[in-house]
Amino acid sequence: MNTEFESLFKPMKIGKMEVKNRIVMTAMGIHSHRLVNEDGSYSLDGANYFIERAKGGVGLIVTGAMQVQDWFERVPGSAHNINKVADTYIKNSKYLVDNIHSYGTKIVVQLTAGSGRTAPQWLCEGDAIAPSDDLPNVWNPAIRHRALTIPEIQHYIECFANGAAIAKEAGFDGVEIHAVHEGYLLDQFTMSCTNKRTDKYGGSLENRLRFPCEIVQAIKAKCGNDFPVMVRYSVRSYMKGFNKGALPGEEFEEFGRDLEESTKVAKILEEAGYDALDADNGTYDSWYWSHPPVYMPKACNLKDVKYIKKFVNIPVICAGRMDDPYTAADAVASGEIDAVGLARPLLADPEWPAKVQRGDIEDIRPCIACHNGCLARIFEGKDMCCAVNPAVCREKAYELKPTKEKKNVVVIGGGIGGMEAARVSALRGHNVSLYEKSEELGGVFIAAAAPDFKESDKELIKWYKLQLNKLGVKIHLNTEVTPDLVTSLHPDEIFVATGSKAKKLPVPGIDGKNVVTAIDALLKKKPIGNKVVVVGGGLTGCEIAYDLAKDGKQVTIIEVLDDILKVKGLCAANANMLRELLAYYNVEVLVNTSLSAVTEGSVTVKTADGLKNIEADTVITAVGYNSDNRLYEQIKDCGVPVHLIGDAKQVSNLMGAIWDAYEVAMTI
Ligand SMILES: Cc1cc2nc3c(=O)[nH]c(=O)nc-3n(C[C@H](O)[C@H](O)[C@H](O)COP(=O)(O)O)c2cc1C
Ligand code: SF4
Repeated sequence: MNTEFESLFKPMKIGKMEVKNRIVMTAMGIHSHRLVNEDGSYSLDGANYFIERAKGGVGLIVTGAMQVQDWFERVPGSAHNINKVADTYIKNSKYLVDNIHSYGTKIVVQLTAGSGRTAPQWLCEGDAIAPSDDLPNVWNPAIRHRALTIPEIQHYIECFANGAAIAKEAGFDGVEIHAVHEGYLLDQFTMSCTNKRTDKYGGSLENRLRFPCEIVQAIKAKCGNDFPVMVRYSVRSYMKGFNKGALPGEEFEEFGRDLEESTKVAKILEEAGYDALDADNGTYDSWYWSHPPVYMPKACNLKDVKYIKKFVNIPVICAGRMDDPYTAADAVASGEIDAVGLARPLLADPEWPAKVQRGDIEDIRPCIACHNGCLARIFEGKDMCCAVNPAVCREKAYELKPTKEKKNVVVIGGGIGGMEAARVSALRGHNVSLYEKSEELGGVFIAAAAPDFKESDKELIKWYKLQLNKLGVKIHLNTEVTPDLVTSLHPDEIFVATGSKAKKLPVPGIDGKNVVTAIDALLKKKPIGNKVVVVGGGLTGCEIAYDLAKDGKQVTIIEVLDDILKVKGLCAANANMLRELLAYYNVEVLVNTSLSAVTEGSVTVKTADGLKNIEADTVITAVGYNSDNRLYEQIKDCGVPVHLIGDAKQVSNLMGAIWDAYEVAMTI
């Protein structure tokens, strides 16, 4: 074992449960019918997803959230209530529990009280509940929630106790209560901004905490004191108001739970009987703390979580971009926290624990905090997966099998898609050569990864280079592939991953010296003046605007659509934070506005109110890309299979490029 990280591999106890190391896989709710049975137990695919993480060395797994009742917030077409389906749930959980235990990993079920005002519309239709009357729904503030009655609260508590007993009978090692965290229903009870009750469940802090406290007491009474009960806990809310988050470093008055109150809350939860705090920060109103996007610093919750640990004696776990193993090991070694909570990093690389234990840090495939493959897909009603690891939640179907027939594979284009095609082909045993016309691997992703908040993206490029090197892929840089070169290579299979070309707007002045493409701006290939107009309010344009504005530039975004960030598959946690950052750094956003002309020192734009001039030292165009499939058209009939992949086939995002390459390369 690498001694640098040994703190992460010491056992710990949560109540009477011994966990083999300090690495906890925090909950990720998977809901689709392919992954979860009608009774809420995990299907074979769902179970195999967890088993893969146990195999990778994680000490404790928390399952996704499971309902305990079906009076409220019923998931359409699904039972998903542990109490309703106990018999089959117990039977169907055996495969999961036994396999997890065979790796020495523990597993607890996350039992949820549900969402309250954070419920998406489809979940609260008919009966939108909350601690108090008239609370606005997070997604649609026009929906007002009604207060739960005391008999309804007591029904919940009974359901939690029964649900925990069922989990215990099914062989799970404990339960985690969801959640005095992220602004969910129980959290709404604990915060004075959302709990205006005047009965014993409202008013004083003790009253506001009565509901989660009675839950743990009822569970312990039913399942025994030794049965571990953890609680998901957000230390601070970082709310400026409903649907208004507070950014890191921003001065604000806390509308939700502040640090001082949190010290008392943590103690009350401990005294009530909870065995561990599985901690982070934030609510749906400041979602980027609970679901930190790429703009959030790594270990963003550590400062607050380690503060709270001083006030309790039970183990404290800290989640939220904790995937830097050095930070994680230091925090545990110094006793600041007891364990590190990882969610997305274990999607990107299930072997994170084993690789850290061996000291193979550079071999860990990084999570790039994009949410494209995981959280965003869940909210689109799709199976959870991962942008950089297409095998998530389909571990068996996407397992890479060694090839029976070793082939000469030529990959043309060294962007992310090309590198993934080369990696997967080589992993399967093919003889792979990769040709890249520039002097570096990475393609357009080099530019996308350039801002300082894109450290994980840079790590991903590094990771690909290392993997190709280890796998013996023959890399030819500065080599433009021609049809003649293809013929001379005698390939058996060809991947064409020639990427895309930036679109050019047909407006007067677009070839002017003051006009810079998004890629050149990101790579800082041309000087950028103080007054900047960014044309295009998609993800690239908005990220460039944020990057420049935080460096003190005066930035205006013009967007032809009626809103910025209208990007398919973009997660609300990422979009909300980027919008708030743009506002914080005073970026002016003009929607329903198109570029008419560029002159030296200004642009003319067309708005709903007519033409307008905006001063601009530099104009950055971020208006999208067109596929570059010219080489493919020349060689597609060369007599061997030619696979057009990634942006060269259809312009998409990083996830599209990786998945496309993987799916073809796993079959050749
Ligand atoms: C797809 C997805 C689903 C999640 N579902 C849950 C959940 O059901 N319960 C919960 O407490 N946290 C949930 N989380 C939050 C994670 O447990 C974790 O706290 C968060 O992703 C930050 O940690 P990370 O940076 O290691 O991913 C979810 C996160 C993701 C990405
Ligand atoms: S989809 Fe993106 S954020 Fe989610 S786990 Fe994968 S890399 Fe991380």
